[in-house]
Amino acid sequence: MRLLTGRTDPSTGSPSESWTTALGASELFVVATWQGLVVRPALGICSAEGQVCRHLVTRRLSDGVKREWWQRGVIYEVYVRSFQDSNADGVGDLEGVRGRLDYLRWLGVDAVWVTPFYPSPMADFGYDILDFKGIDPLFGDLEAFDRLLEDARRRELRVIVDVVPNHSSSEHPWFLESRSARGNAKRDWYVWADPGPDGGPPNNWLSVFGGPAWTFDERSGQFYLHTFLPEQPDLNWRNPAVVGAMFDVMRFWLDRGVDGFRIDSAHHLMKDPQLRDNPLLPPETPVDGRRTEYGGQLHVNDVGHRDAHEIYRRLRRLLDSYAAAGGPPRVALGETRIYEWRQWASYYGAQLDELHLPLNFGLVSAPWDAKTVRTLIDQVEKALPWGAWPSWVLSSHDEQRVASRLGPAQARVGMMLLLTLRGTPMIYYGDELGARDVAVPQHLVQDPWEKNLPGLGLGRDPVRAPMRWDEKTNGSFCHGHVTPWLPVNVTVPSVEAQRDDSCSVLTLTRRLLHERRRNPALSEGRYEPIDQASNDCVVFAREIEAQRLLVALNFTETAQTVHAGVAGPGSVVVSTFLDREEPVELSKISLRPNEGCLIRVLE
Ligand code: NOJ
Repeated sequence: MRLLTGRTDPSTGSPSESWTTALGASELFVVATWQGLVVRPALGICSAEGQVCRHLVTRRLSDGVKREWWQRGVIYEVYVRSFQDSNADGVGDLEGVRGRLDYLRWLGVDAVWVTPFYPSPMADFGYDILDFKGIDPLFGDLEAFDRLLEDARRRELRVIVDVVPNHSSSEHPWFLESRSARGNAKRDWYVWADPGPDGGPPNNWLSVFGGPAWTFDERSGQFYLHTFLPEQPDLNWRNPAVVGAMFDVMRFWLDRGVDGFRIDSAHHLMKDPQLRDNPLLPPETPVDGRRTEYGGQLHVNDVGHRDAHEIYRRLRRLLDSYAAAGGPPRVALGETRIYEWRQWASYYGAQLDELHLPLNFGLVSAPWDAKTVRTLIDQVEKALPWGAWPSWVLSSHDEQRVASRLGPAQARVGMMLLLTLRGTPMIYYGDELGARDVAVPQHLVQDPWEKNLPGLGLGRDPVRAPMRWDEKTNGSFCHGHVTPWLPVNVTVPSVEAQRDDSCSVLTLTRRLLHERRRNPALSEGRYEPIDQASNDCVVFAREIEAQRLLVALNFTETAQTVHAGVAGPGSVVVSTFLDREEPVELSKISLRPNEGCLIRVLE
């Protein structure tokens, strides 16, 4: 059979030459294009190019292609400061994480993303780095890091570390040099600019954390750029010396054996070289609910600049070179907070040659109702380039905890959604307990965002409270006589208390992880939405070869009846209430208020 792929355009969602090549010859028989039509000769289906083609190819990919660990697996975010203190200073550390690896194994996750542990003045709790190749004594040392890697490997857990390429600490030796004189050799390692005509900042760019994105340096008479705090000056990625130095940093960690990187602020890396102003949104436009000055701009010139793609292609080549040399595949996750899905998807690269997983924060920001969530999933699936693999985030160290945002009942539904969608899920530590935000009194506030813009609900301390392992003082996060850096999260029963409770959130999470692991339909299968008469529930199927599972989620506080699109027998495998495993008729599935069910299709 002949394949005619040359006429099609990847941006329209139809196969491209390179993509079909990437599939391998054995896959090619499924899809062909002819005069703008997609043809499936085997079944004799013709349709306008796009949807059918996508569907067919997704099916082939799901059914035939070996998935990598970062596609099949589940990633667990460890916020190091708050996971486990091993040296009685009230702050979590690497040795503490190592001591809890058995827990992670027991829970059933596949990889840990460990937040920054590098030397830092901690203006932004480790995202202001003094030495990209070191370990802050607060968290341990390089030997402790190596021990963590080794013990994780022994337990078949992968380790992903944060790389913070957009900025360093203002106390980093590179910045101290850069700042020392206009003529310094490292001046151009950061973004410096003359004052604007009125003597103020060079343009209207704002810091995410409040105030202008520019700070004036008296000595040299210029401003430097900082997307975040003044203590976090932006590196100039247009300078090849910076690119070289940061790639050297990444090689350093890859050589130590890390399995991948989470690229901090990946969409901020490059900016408009002419430093043009951002347009303002009309004042009546509803902005992200938080109504900050930052949210009042259209970030076309300081965020998401296309020149970053070349850097990510280079990063991908670096990671691929490690796998090509015989090592395990290394992964790049990107913190890409972009909600325009085409733009977000561009970080996979036109040839799938950039980030493996641009993180998708859609579920974090979408209003929690079935219609919006269903639309979101469809939009994300549709925006994915051919062969790209999705990711899903429900919360992180930067957002409200999911149980606070959705309430405890819907947080269970959220966990079921997260762990049954097609794509790599990210679990934020403590969410497996259903932990909620902790009220942090004013005098204990640590987060610079809250300090800069108090009272707007921007502070991230409430979601970073230490893990409660048992019911002892300080939940065994640290010794009972030590004061933890933030109050321990006692909003829900501890790990110990939930472990043997057959209905706890921890048991639910572990059960879902278990089902995901033993059912390839969930970890690798294709996604198929099933329309319902009302907008109260999200229902979809996951399928691979002969295995078909259904997910039915009730987003409301009233009982609902949904269908699977066909009649026939099914069986509830897991309910979010963990109290039923029973036969169901697929044409008429009853869901209790706030209930989600994972259902096996029986024929
Ligand atoms: C994103 C990180 O997740 C956040 O915690 C940090 O404050 C900013 N990037 C700046 O590095």
